[in-house]
Amino acid sequence: MNGYGYRLGAIGIMSTFFIIIFSTVLMPMVLFKPEPTVTRNDYEVESKIGNPARGRRIYIREGCFYCHTQFTRLQDREYGPLVKAGDYVYETPHQLGTARTGPDLTNEGGKMSSEWQKAHLVQPRAVKPGSIMPSFSFLNDEDMNDLVSYIQTLGNKRVVEKYVMAPDEYQVTTPVGYALHGRNHVDTKSDAAANAGRGIFTQNCAVCHGLEARGNGPNSISLTKKPANFTRPFYKQYDDEMWFYRISEGVPGTRMPRFQLSLTEEERWYLVAYLKTLPKDVEDTVDKLDQLDKVDHVRLPKLTRQQYEPTTGDH
Ligand code: HEC
Ligand code: HEC
Repeated sequence: MNGYGYRLGAIGIMSTFFIIIFSTVLMPMVLFKPEPTVTRNDYEVESKIGNPARGRRIYIREGCFYCHTQFTRLQDREYGPLVKAGDYVYETPHQLGTARTGPDLTNEGGKMSSEWQKAHLVQPRAVKPGSIMPSFSFLNDEDMNDLVSYIQTLGNKRVVEKYVMAPDEYQVTTPVGYALHGRNHVDTKSDAAANAGRGIFTQNCAVCHGLEARGNGPNSISLTKKPANFTRPFYKQYDDEMWFYRISEGVPGTRMPRFQLSLTEEERWYLVAYLKTLPKDVEDTVDKLDQLDKVDHVRLPKLTRQQYEPTTGDH
């Protein structure tokens, strides 16, 4: 290859590199300015336990963020309310973290007593057998109190309007969502639609979620992450969009299928109409699988070795 071709290649590589840096780093830095959704940071409060702001510096110093994130995603129902970009505008450096060796700590504050938190930091395995979190017993009393006071403030600043909400593309406020709702002619409040939905549910969902939608269908026995129990009061807060979103896209990390691949939009709206009727006021339903563990009434018959292993006739 002559010198000219070599130079052209070098320029090509350099400009590709610059375009990548420009579009993924520089442009978002200038253009992405989220509206603040908070007035202050969590840790800028008085605390009887210690100094949360100093505790946060210890959190950073000790590298807690290597193993703990501070952002809840849509699929993280067990970690509490969702976060928004605007929650972080005043926090520098933010503690989003990148890996979850341990659980997400966004809403850890108030979940456990301060004594528990302290005992856990001194010796994680004392309160969580089998935990792989390192012991932080080397922290002096002041550091320990400040760190615990910081942990107890996590999740304070967010005013939760809604616990869970479907992504924007399912809301009427966006063009895609507007079109989606425009195509829908199922009245999800009507009994007739709910009835139709029940039929679709029995055919497609009952194997996992159970005929009574308590999450105890025959398939659920073999699933590590159990199917949802729709009679829980928790589901009262779900709006149509949230139901539709979950049915359409499934739940990442579980066996819940993406039904947009196999059911029409119309069928999914009928299902929404049905699922909406299920949540109860109080947790009056008993998860039959839990019960099974306790009463232990499924016993294998005592069989001899011959009965377990049918002979092939060789001996
Ligand atoms: C090597 C990874 C690792 C590091 C570093 C680490 N943790 Fe953990 N952490 C874990 C794991 C794993 C768990 C889950 C088991 C348990 O609860 O002990 C956990 C659990 C927790 C919990 C309990 C959460 C809950 O609700 O059950 C808290 C609080 C916590 N860590 C705080 C901290 C703090 C504060 C630091 C820094 C001083 C820290 N962790 C450093 C791995 C880590
Ligand atoms: C192969 C088993 C399986 C089938 C079939 C199945 N699901 Fe699920 N479903 C699950 C599992 C597992 C979860 C996850 C529960 C969790 O995350 O706690 C789930 C979760 C859900 C959720 C989300 C619940 C939440 O907490 O947000 C909805 C809604 C749902 N399923 C509706 C349906 C409907 C409607 C059908 C039928 C069209 C269906 N599922 C069929 C296994 C299944």
